[in-house]
Amino acid sequence: MKAKYERVMIKLSGEALAGEKGFGINPSTVKNICTSIKSVYDLGVEISIVVGGGNFWRGRQSDEMDKSTADYMGMLATVLNALALQDSLEGMGVPVRVQTAIEMREIAEPYIKRKAVRHLEKNRIVIFAAGTGNPFFTTDTTAALRAAEIDANIILLAKNVDAVYDSDPNLNPDAKKYSHLSYLDVINRGLKVMDSTAITLCMDNHIPILVFGLNDPQNILRAISGEKIGTLING
Ligand code: GTP
Repeated sequence: MKAKYERVMIKLSGEALAGEKGFGINPSTVKNICTSIKSVYDLGVEISIVVGGGNFWRGRQSDEMDKSTADYMGMLATVLNALALQDSLEGMGVPVRVQTAIEMREIAEPYIKRKAVRHLEKNRIVIFAAGTGNPFFTTDTTAALRAAEIDANIILLAKNVDAVYDSDPNLNPDAKKYSHLSYLDVINRGLKVMDSTAITLCMDNHIPILVFGLNDPQNILRAISGEKIGTLING
């Protein structure tokens, strides 16, 4: 199998690591995802990863909580997930560097763009943790920002649905599945793919996004090989 892309950004939701329980980290689920990532790595693709934190913390639970505090808690949750992914991938012999947007040097390297690119060139997977380091930004925006900074060819947006639909396919059996959308389609139709900050960042920097389901972890490999799965969002 040949890879269609040289350098990719994989965005994983935190929930993807939780397995059936829906909370925390399920080691066998993480292992399945990492096995698939390793198969992509073995093709020689340069891989960066941004992971969410929703398996530990789903953001502000009530208006009583300060939004920034809630977002900082979410950023810390992403660090837990990044370390779990690093541990699993390194257990398979894949070198990984975690970089955090908020300095915590005892745990991981701080985010330094030039160092991240160097790691990728040396065939190390780089996981960007702690979001952008700022409240009010999502991990989707982090993926878009880092993808732009490191010149990734595409964002592979792994979701718990297999594509983008015009309405929720779990609630509407007639929901229409899109195989292709423009950035403006996503914004104008209010499709719940990424938040608007993330999608406009991708549009302004011409970064295509492939949305696909992680129900089958092999989809990461299918996406890399250019198989027509999910929904492609570009120009
Ligand atoms: P090269 O410079 O290409 O050799 O990269 P390298 O990452 O192998 O070298 P470096 O000496 O920078 O790092 C060696 C190990 O220490 C790697 O596992 C890094 O992730 C880790 N490391 C580097 N800087 C920090 C840091 O500030 N904090 C923590 N916790 N680990 C770090």
